[in-house]
Amino acid sequence: MQRITVGEVELAYVDKGSGQVVLLVHGFPLDHSMWSGQIDVLAVRNRVIAPDLRGFGESDGQGETTTMQQFAADLAGLLEALEIREPITLCGLSMGGYVAWQFWKHHRDRLASLILCDTRAASDTPEGAQGRLTLADTVLAEGALPVADSMLPKLFAPKTLESRPPYVDATKQVMASTQPTTIAAALRGMAERPDMTAELPNIELPALLVCGEQDVITPADEMRTVAAAMPEAMFHVIYGAGHMSPLERPERVNHLILDFL
Ligand code: MLT
Repeated sequence: MQRITVGEVELAYVDKGSGQVVLLVHGFPLDHSMWSGQIDVLAVRNRVIAPDLRGFGESDGQGETTTMQQFAADLAGLLEALEIREPITLCGLSMGGYVAWQFWKHHRDRLASLILCDTRAASDTPEGAQGRLTLADTVLAEGALPVADSMLPKLFAPKTLESRPPYVDATKQVMASTQPTTIAAALRGMAERPDMTAELPNIELPALLVCGEQDVITPADEMRTVAAAMPEAMFHVIYGAGHMSPLERPERVNHLILDFL
């Protein structure tokens, strides 16, 4: 991985290939490695940039709360630092999708198109937000392992968990090794993220939305509704996948992404 200073943090990122830039933004509490099934394939025709968001993976950054807007500002700063001025395709999964909405809101001129995987536009319910704040305290007191243990069964389709491909354990390892302060800061940031539902008709960029058929965190039906509210969006269900559709069904997701690009 390479490293670059963006504002007050140093971000780690993969930078591979050349051509139109595709920026891959990971979910919570993960890192760039969740795109292992996409990076090499997309880099054949595109320049793929896959950062670790601040505090995650090998990137620095501490704080009480990291808002989705802050993550988006870091990504705009990363593009600036890399002297990438042409509009890019931003592809985000779940929390990476929450970041994508804020990127659209605050750095729109940097975007050519959006790819959104297993995410939602709505904010948390009050109970959901409260649950995140409680979980943030638990993580700070008990470490990352309880989050990793409780999230793992929700991330993957039952069949994926049963057949236990190596990436299931690798994902658990990434979650368990994420700094508790990073997890808590992102939980607080997600809890206060704005509702983007009313903005969807204004997102006039070409957009590809995909969601695992068995996603229990961000259900496919909800994403279908999000896509229907966006003027230039198309939506595809990824059969047999859970919340981690690009990792669980890379060939299918890559086919859709390459077609879209
Ligand atoms: C993610 O995969 O990024 C998270 O599950 C998002 C969330 O907790 O809402």
